[in-house]
Formats: sequence, structure tokens, C-alpha cells
Amino acid sequence: MTREILIAPSILAADFTRLGEEIAVIDAAGADWIHCDVMDGHFVPNISYGADVIKAIRPLTKKVFDVHLMIAPVDPYLEAFAKAGADIITVHAEAGVHIDRSLQAIRALGKQAGVSLCPGTPESAIEYVLDALDVVLVMTVNPGFGGQSFLPSQLEKITRIRTMIGNRPIRLEVDGGITRDNAAAVAAAGADTLVAGSAVFRGKGGADYAGNIAAIRIAAEAGRLAKFPSKSAAEAPAEGARASVA
Ligand code: DX5
Ligand code: ZN
Repeated sequence: MTREILIAPSILAADFTRLGEEIAVIDAAGADWIHCDVMDGHFVPNISYGADVIKAIRPLTKKVFDVHLMIAPVDPYLEAFAKAGADIITVHAEAGVHIDRSLQAIRALGKQAGVSLCPGTPESAIEYVLDALDVVLVMTVNPGFGGQSFLPSQLEKITRIRTMIGNRPIRLEVDGGITRDNAAAVAAAGADTLVAGSAVFRGKGGADYAGNIAAIRIAAEAGRLAKFPSKSAAEAPAEGARASVA
């Protein structure tokens, strides 16, 4: 199953002195999801922001909040992120030994459940939890920082996960170093949801952000259509509004 391409700007690259304005601007500029990177200085070597910041910005947009937790342990904090307004909560397969338990806990909180895989983690890590998943997030950099270079080694993993997903209603998301130059390649490999931080929050504001999002989307659509020609652009919107999770 191929799905409409979604673009999820990572607010890690926003101007934090004007975070509220940046959310409103990125909403109007065509963001499908708002990607929130939570880092703990333990699972990853950087600290970003937590549930209180997400709660503060939640009322500023109706877009899906895609919360990427790069924290360990993660289970004690799931409820706080659910209450803060996350729509999707993604945990790392490497952050604990009980990934199935974490995914069940997310769904029990009424949220969509995601698993993220670091570049060194094979796709087999999710083989037995596919039916507990709504999103698979393939890291295309080592998590912890924005602005890093895309790792082409992950393309093969994306292709394999696309095959593993089959017809399940699971989004295949990529995160790290995504630009208009590699968007076609990740979409051709099977990704349908593209996170981008520094490639979106570049320029002077709304018009530039909109152009950046559009360029990534157009490149990804072209890559997808080249690989999955049966899926025309005209058919894609019928699968649902961009604001929907799946
Ligand atoms: C990295 C984060 C990414 C990051 C993406 O650990 O998970 O979401 O913000 O930023 P860019 O697109 O600049 O690589
Ligand atoms: Zn992320």
C-alpha cells in the first residue's frame, strides 16, 4: 500500500525565541504533522524540551502532533506526553527491552503508537510488534541533533520495512538529514512521511518555509510515482486528509 506523502517539520530547527509564531507559520506553510523531538541527554547526547513545552504549543495548531521520544526510560513519561496533547507517541526500540509493553501503553492512553530505529538497529527489531504499530520511524542520522547529513545506508532498511508492513495501516516515516535532494530516494524506497528540520526552517519565514515544504513534497511525490506508478497523484488525496494520522 502506498499513501499520500506527508511532511512533518521538526520544530527542533525553529527559532525558540519565537516558538509560538513559528508553529503558526509552519501550520500555514503546509506542514502536515508537527514533529516534536524530545531528548534527555542520556539516551541521546543532547537535551531539547519536554512535555510542558508541547502542552504550551498544543493549542496553536490543529495539526497532528508527532512526538518523537529519544529518552530512556520512556514508560514512566508516556502519560505526561499523552496529556500534553501528543497524537502520535514514538519510542525507540533501543530505549528499553520491553518495546511491546511500551506500545501497548501508548495505545491504552488512546494515542497512535510508533517505534523508531537508530541507524545501527536492524528492521528485525520490529518484526513481532508490527500489529501494535501505527508508525515506524527510521532514523536516517544518529539521533540527537538536527542538521546532520543523511545516511544512505538506511535506504535498504526502508525498502525492507516497506515490504514487512505490507497492507497494514502503518506510516513509514524517515527522520534526519532529509532535504529536497534526497526526498525522492526515500520515497522510492517506500517512505511516506518525511520529517525535516533544517531543510524546512530555512529562510526568512512563511513564504520560504512554504517553498521548502513544497519542494520536499514534490520531490518525494516524484520519487514515489517513479517507483509505484500505479498510484497516481490524483488518487492519493482520496486516502484521507493530510491532517489525519494514517
Ligand atoms: C534528530 C531528530 C530529528 C531532527 C531532524 O535526532 O530526531 O527530527 O530534528 O533535523 P534535520 O532535518 O535538520 O536533520
Ligand atoms: Zn525526530
